[in-house]
Amino acid sequence: MTHTVEVRLGARSYRVLIGSGLLGSLGDLLKNESLPSPCAIITDSNVALLYAGKLQHQLASSGFKPVVITVPAGEKSKSLPQAGDVCDQMIAAGLDRRSFVIALGGGVVGDLAGFVAAIYYRGVPYVQIPTSIVAQVDSAVGGKTGVNTRGGKNLLGSFHQPRLVVADVETLRTLPEREFNEGFAEVIKHAIIRDRNLFDSLVSVDRENLAPLIARNVEIKAAIVAADEYEASGERALLNFGHTIGHAIETAAGYGRFLHGEAISLGIIAACSLSMRIAGLAKNENDLVIQRLEQFKLPTLLPAGISIEAILSALKADKKFLEGRIRFVLTPGIGSAFLTEDVTLNEIRAAVEELRACE
Ligand code: NAD
Ligand code: GLY
Repeated sequence: MTHTVEVRLGARSYRVLIGSGLLGSLGDLLKNESLPSPCAIITDSNVALLYAGKLQHQLASSGFKPVVITVPAGEKSKSLPQAGDVCDQMIAAGLDRRSFVIALGGGVVGDLAGFVAAIYYRGVPYVQIPTSIVAQVDSAVGGKTGVNTRGGKNLLGSFHQPRLVVADVETLRTLPEREFNEGFAEVIKHAIIRDRNLFDSLVSVDRENLAPLIARNVEIKAAIVAADEYEASGERALLNFGHTIGHAIETAAGYGRFLHGEAISLGIIAACSLSMRIAGLAKNENDLVIQRLEQFKLPTLLPAGISIEAILSALKADKKFLEGRIRFVLTPGIGSAFLTEDVTLNEIRAAVEELRACE
C-alpha cells in the first residue's frame, strides 16, 4: 500500500509518496510530473553503490537523460565548495535550465541537492528520493535547502520546495544500525511537539512495516509547513525543538563527529531540562523522553573534549538567535510545544552543563 501525504502550498503543492518498492516505478511517477528529460541524480558515495546505477538505468529506459553526480558521504559534503563543484559537473554534462535534479540519499544529499536546484540557472525543479529515516520523516519535506559553514549549520540556503517526494521504505533496509537509530531523534521530536500517541507507540517499532510510522511523521511535518512555510508565524519554528542546542553541539564538535540525530538527541535532553524549569514539564515525562532516546541508542551525555564555550559560541551564530535573544522551543508535556523568547543564555548554559555533569 502506498501512503500519500499532500503538502498544501497553493501553486507549490506536492505529494509525498511513502511505500514499499516505489523506486521500481519512479520513471512513470516522474513522467506524470511533466519534468524535462535531462536530469542530475545527486547522491553520495554510499547510496550511489546501492541505488544510483539501477535508478539511472530505469530512468533512461523511461526516456529521461540522467547523469549521476556523487559526493563523499557525510555532513562535510554539505558545503558551499561542494555545491559549486556539483554545479560545475552539471554544467560540464550540458544540463541547462530545461533540466531537473533528483536528490537520492539522506538529509545531507537532500539539503545539498535541493540547494543546488535552488541556485542552478537561478532555480530548476527537483525531486526528493530520501533513503534515510531522517530524510524520510523530516528533511525531504518542507523545502528547506542549504549548506553549512564553519560558523554554523545551515547558515546558507534557500526555501525551494520539491516537485515530488518518493520515500521507498525498502531503501531503509540497507541503512546501518547507527544511521537507522539516529533518525528516531527526529521522530521523537515530532512526537514531543505534536503527538502523544505517536510517542507512546515508539515503545515497539515494527521494522518490517515502517511506512505507517513514516507517513504519520510526514503528516505532522506537512501540516506545520503548510501553516507556516517560511517560518514567519512561529509555528514552523516548533520543528526546531532540540535543534538550537543540537546544532550548536554539531558545529562545536566538528561536522561528522556526531550524526545529525545524535546531536539532536543531546539537544532534546537539554530542551526537556529547560522545559522542566520553565514550562512545567513533569519529571516523569522528562524521564520517558530520555528512556525513548536510550531505546534507540542515542547519546544522552556530552562526551569529553567538546567545550561548553564552543557550544555557546556556535549557538550565538544560530539563525534563531536574534539581537541577543534566542527563540527557543519548550514543551509543557509530551504532545505539545510552544515558542518563547524568555529563555536566557545563562539558563541555556546550565542545561548544556547538565549534559556534561551527569558523566
Ligand atoms: P546523511 O545524509 O549523512 O545519511 C547518513 C548516512 O547514511 C550517510 O553515510 C549515508 O551515506 C547513509 N545512507 C543514507 N541512506 C542509506 C541507505 N538507504 N542505505 C545505506 N546507507 C545510507 O544524514 P541524515 O541523517 O540522513 O541527514 C542529516 C542531515 O539532514 C543534516 O545535515 C541535517 O541538518 C539535515 N536535516 C535537514 C532538515 C530539513 O528540513 N532540510 C531536517 C532534518 C535534518
Ligand atoms: N527541519 C526543520 C524545518 O523543516 O523547519
